[in-house]
Amino acid sequence: MDKAKAFLKAAYSLEDRQAMEEFYTQWAGDYDEQMESGLGYLSPTSIAKSLATYLPEKVQGTVVDIGCGTGLVGRALSLLGISRMDGIDLSQEMLNVARRSGLYNKLIQADLTAHVPVADDQYAAAICAGTFTHGHVGPEALAEIARIVEPEGVIAFTVHFDLWERDGFNEQLNQMIEGNKLLELERVAGPYFSDGPDEGWFCVYRKKGRKKGRKKGRKKGRKSGRNSVRNSVRNSVCNYS
Ligand SMILES: C[S@@+](CC[C@H](N)C(=O)[O-])C[C@H]1O[C@@H](n2cnc3c(N)ncnc32)[C@H](O)[C@@H]1O
Repeated sequence: MDKAKAFLKAAYSLEDRQAMEEFYTQWAGDYDEQMESGLGYLSPTSIAKSLATYLPEKVQGTVVDIGCGTGLVGRALSLLGISRMDGIDLSQEMLNVARRSGLYNKLIQADLTAHVPVADDQYAAAICAGTFTHGHVGPEALAEIARIVEPEGVIAFTVHFDLWERDGFNEQLNQMIEGNKLLELERVAGPYFSDGPDEGWFCVYRKKGRKKGRKKGRKKGRKSGRNSVRNSVRNSVCNYS
């Protein structure tokens, strides 16, 4: 437990890309044990369930796991019946562990704060757990994630409470909503660890635009706009400020 807490403390104080890579190179082999047995890490399962709520039963296309690390989100998705996945992460060591899980098709080493080597509109959905947190990735990555998801695709991610306003996640997402790029589907407060308090937002958005091949006009049998939003409050406050 002490080792796990020390791991988390060190992870939250990383200062640059080099420190990030060195840290995860060192911890990749131990990561799952420290996070799961040591800390009771819940976020991968929680955010995977949130995403699955908005996906059709049989997902057409591939889900991309952003900041996939060792693949805990991939495992949570596969338990929900979602099996076509790619992963993106900065750390080659973390990707090596993810590769051994056998869950992912493609694993891409890339820096989310720069250009990701993936063409536009490639993925049916994107998911990201534990990566928008202290010392990790800022809101600038949101536009890059939205770029690689297809129109009407779903994007689900966690953001630590401390960073929501301070690092500009709120502002960036509001700009994307006002710019007609995203629609907020839900934002729910929840815990990251089994015996911890609510620590972050579990967010789900839909990328706006029309899927290739879909004709203009109202879609049959589907509500559109904010009325279709499932504004659920699962754990505590749901604040749409
Ligand atoms: C706390 S881990 C989360 C891993 C996994 N999503 C999970 O929930 O177990 C954060 C991950 O973000 C990755 N990461 C940090 N900065 C990154 C960046 N700039 N680009 C891509 N990945 C990054 C790290 O390498 C690490 O695997």
